[in-house]
Amino acid sequence: MKDKEGLICLLTERVNDELLKAAPKLRIAANVAVGFDNIDVAACTKRGVAATNTPGVLDETTADFAWTLMMAVARRLGEAEALARSGNWKNWDLDQLVGTDVWGKTLGIVGFGRIGRAMARRASGFHMKVIYTDAVRAAEGVEKELKVEFREMNTLLGESDFISVHVPLLPDTRGLFNGPKFHRMKPTAFLVNTSRGPVVDEAALVAALESGKIAGAGLDVYENEPFIHPGLKRANVVLAPHVASASLETRTKMACIAAENVVALFAGKRPPNILNPEVLKTS
Ligand code: DGY
Repeated sequence: MKDKEGLICLLTERVNDELLKAAPKLRIAANVAVGFDNIDVAACTKRGVAATNTPGVLDETTADFAWTLMMAVARRLGEAEALARSGNWKNWDLDQLVGTDVWGKTLGIVGFGRIGRAMARRASGFHMKVIYTDAVRAAEGVEKELKVEFREMNTLLGESDFISVHVPLLPDTRGLFNGPKFHRMKPTAFLVNTSRGPVVDEAALVAALESGKIAGAGLDVYENEPFIHPGLKRANVVLAPHVASASLETRTKMACIAAENVVALFAGKRPPNILNPEVLKTS
């Protein structure tokens, strides 16, 4: 980084004081992700480095994948696929790999931003009741259009059959899903997380799964990626390696947006997705 003026980075790279110190010429750090908890934006601002992300292009793809996890864990797809491939499938049986219905159930959405809303839109075809919680309640028109109802967090936990998490990782959301929260969920309920791993206290999740406090989980993100807590490798958990936005179309758009942000800055223009516009005045 010593001589570099621009950095296009993935969420696995930490853009912190240490990196910034080693990159005295840096003018922009362009994340190829919407989440930017890997970037210390305040440290960038202090050194006049622009920080950008890629919002808006991965909402539908990520919601598709959250649904994939929800359907897979409810209908035991991981176990079913393993049996079908194993050569040990003997016959159709009435109680073989019986799962739980998704349609007609209650979906609780935690974090009602773009991805949470994309999640809600998909639920109407499944005749689900959709409830959500967020620090900021959505406008009445949005609630009506998406046929969703607001709930306080604890009420949502107790009412939902499926809970899908769509909050960014912030000091306030770190460990948001902890032991007491799992305690409030139905023992028949499932947790789906495609946001950030540290939003869920993994040890508490394992304890909740082991004790039957919740029925299962569909996970794409983990507390210490790429490490996956061994207690999560169980039949009632569907695991994916942080691929919710991984469609060719979406990843291509994300990469292009990151590049466009860099090109804009070098052309003296405002990068479209700048997170710290205050640096532009001084640069
Ligand atoms: C993001 O963009 O924040 C995802 O986690 C990767 O698509």
